[in-house]
This record gives sequence, structure tokens and C-alpha cells, in this order.
Amino acid sequence: MSILIINIKSLVQVRPEGVSKLSGEEMKTLPTIEDAFLLIEDDTIIDYGKMTEAYSMSADKIIDATGKLVLPSWCDSHTHIVYAGDRSQEFVDRINGLSYEEIANRGGGILNSAEKLQNCSENDLFEQSLERLINVTKLGTGAIEIKSGYGLTVEAELKMLRVIKKLKDETGMAIKSTLLGAHALPVDYKNNKSGYVDQVIEKMLTLAVKENLADYVDVFCEKGYFDLEDTEKIMAAAKAYGIKSKIHVNQFNAFGGVELGVKYDALSVDHLEEMNPEDYVALKGSNTIPVALPSCSYFLSIPYTPGRKIIDSGLPLALATDYNPGSTPSGNMNFVVSTACIKMKLTPEEAINAATLNGAYAMGLSDSHGSITIGKKANIIITKPVSNYNYLPYAFGDNLIDKVYLNGKIVA
Ligand code: NIG
Ligand code: FE
Repeated sequence: MSILIINIKSLVQVRPEGVSKLSGEEMKTLPTIEDAFLLIEDDTIIDYGKMTEAYSMSADKIIDATGKLVLPSWCDSHTHIVYAGDRSQEFVDRINGLSYEEIANRGGGILNSAEKLQNCSENDLFEQSLERLINVTKLGTGAIEIKSGYGLTVEAELKMLRVIKKLKDETGMAIKSTLLGAHALPVDYKNNKSGYVDQVIEKMLTLAVKENLADYVDVFCEKGYFDLEDTEKIMAAAKAYGIKSKIHVNQFNAFGGVELGVKYDALSVDHLEEMNPEDYVALKGSNTIPVALPSCSYFLSIPYTPGRKIIDSGLPLALATDYNPGSTPSGNMNFVVSTACIKMKLTPEEAINAATLNGAYAMGLSDSHGSITIGKKANIIITKPVSNYNYLPYAFGDNLIDKVYLNGKIVA
């Protein structure tokens, strides 16, 4: 089945093959073709160019995109969308004055979600997660990473990873799976953190590898959660299996986690609301991409990741949602892109690059996703009629998406 999209006002994020990520100055440019066409065959982009070159072309289906933009679908490289129930009561508790930390110390937070998830059947968990996944595809997300981390027992972590696999198998979406067994210390291990870390390595990681359920490993490297020693142990064990890390680091405190991530050649270091000068130095010249999660800063009223400074230091930056029940109950990448412009002072070009190609890199998917490139997956957003791409982050809160195509098929 071939689809020819014609009269595209602006075809956005057009790249030749082989551009895997964008750093510093490179992020300022967002290549576009005005008055363009795009040709898709089955699930693949096979051609694009100026409309003047398209008049003799034919296809099974022709879509007229007069006045509209076409861009690659969003690549959301950091989510926790497999969870049970919600934490709306904690939201109200925070409005009434409790902090995120105080709620966690009272047994709320991640432990609250873990209890809900442990008591939820695998099928119910799948259904709840599928609904969230479908909702974010309608908002333009076409590739996504999903973490475990609300199980905190061997059985429940594996249940989460199986649900992620089923989401992948049943939707055909580009999904990467991350084992985040070290997300919080379960009550049973309150006085035995090293015992829990051993459990993560010897049981969870070993089984996840055996059953081929984890593409990456993650650790919540933070005061009161897992320290540098724990994080290093888990990353080293994953590395021995050939599994790369994507770590939660510098959310509330910066104490060397970024350097450690780079030392282990982590694919990404995520959050970074707090940054030390050494962190910039460590990241320079590495393969590790910094990932900012502005919706989390918005929801928790914590500082925004210094994205402007990260880019001005010549580093790459990716943007993701962090969709989860505690710190970011939202999977809307359009909001993320707007918020990055408004609060982190990224230009629309930088924010769109960070949410597409660099997001793909942060999932190891930039060969197949994140740009309009011949041979890449036909994952695209067709907008409503808008004046130009600056209008997308400018009109924050508006739904400007007309249609989404994933693997060449329309998302209903
Ligand atoms: O990325 N920071 C750690 N994990 C999640 C939030 C976890 C929760 O509150 O449920 C995050 O923000
Ligand atoms: Fe997270």
C-alpha cells in the first residue's frame, strides 16, 4: 500500500541517512522543505521533495495536506506508563503543603504505586497501560521507552516487563523496555539495601536477560534511594550482559551520578534538574545523551533542567515526558516541547530536534526513527492548518494534530 501526501505546506525535520544525534549548534537548525510531497510504501518513507517533482507520481492513496505541516512523530525516550491506578490523592496532599519527599517518607510515592501494582492482575495492568499508550499515540508519540520499577519484587517486576512486551507485540509500536528494579527500597528490605541490590542483579536482571525482556537497565540514583555504589554495581552487572544503562540522576541532588553514567557509557542520563560544573565536563565528547523532563518540573514545581546551558555547552539534549503516576501524570510530548521553549528557553528548532531525532537516539532508535529520511519508518504527524512550526510550541495547550501515521497506518 502506497500513500502520497501532497501540497505539504512545510515538511519538517528532513535529514539524510546517518545523522544519529544533534549536539550544541547543530540543534539550532531544523531542515524543512516548503510546498513538499512525501511518499510512503507500506511502513517506510521512500521519497520526498518539492511538489514540482511530484506531479507525475501516483499512489494507492493520496492525501492533500494544503496548509498543514508534516513532521516525524515524537520519540518519547523516558516513561513509566505501565502502572496501576493513580496517585491523585498525593497530588492533593502536595497542594495542601506536603512535599514529594515527605509523601515518600510516609510510605506513599513509589511504594504506594508498588502496592497497587502488586495487587493488580497482569491482564488488568496490560489493559490500563494499553489505554495510556493509545492515548499518547493520538498525541503524536510514535516510539516510546517504558520502564518497570513499580513492582519491586522479582515477580512483580517481571510482570511489568511481560506487559511491556505484550504492548509491543500487540501494537507493533517501536517500544524499548527498561528494567528499573532499583527504583525504591521495598519495606521488606528497609534495613538491607545491599540485599535488595543483589536481588535486582541476581534475580531480576538475570531473569530479564534470560527471557529477553529488557533492552536497558535503569537506577534511581538519588539520596534516600540508591547511591553511587549501588548504581555502579547494577550498571556493571548489566554491562557484563551487554545491556546499556539509562539512569535517573540529579533529580534532587547532584553527587557524581552523571560522571558514573558516562564512565559506564550509559545511553542516557535523565532528569538533571540539578547540575554541577563537573557534569558538563564529563558529558563532553561522550556517547551519553542528557535527557530533560520538563513536565516533571512543572508538576512537582522543582527547577527545570538547564537545557539552554546544556546546549550552549555544545552537548546534545533529548526531551521526554517521564509519564508516571507520581511526578508526571501526563504523556503529552506537545506540552513537553512547549514547556521546553517557555521554561528552558529552547528555540522551537532545538525543542523539536530534542523531541524527535535526539529522543530516538536516547532509545537506540535513530537509524529507524526521529526524522523524515528515506528508509526510516513512516511515523508522521500531520498538523491542522498552522502558519509555521513555531506555532506548535507557541499555542501551548491546543491540540494541533490532525492525523498521526505509525508504520504507514493511520492511528484512529
Ligand atoms: O522519574 N524519580 C523517580 N521516578 C519517577 C517518579 C516516581 C514516582 O513518583 O512514582 C520519575 O520522576
Ligand atoms: Fe522517570
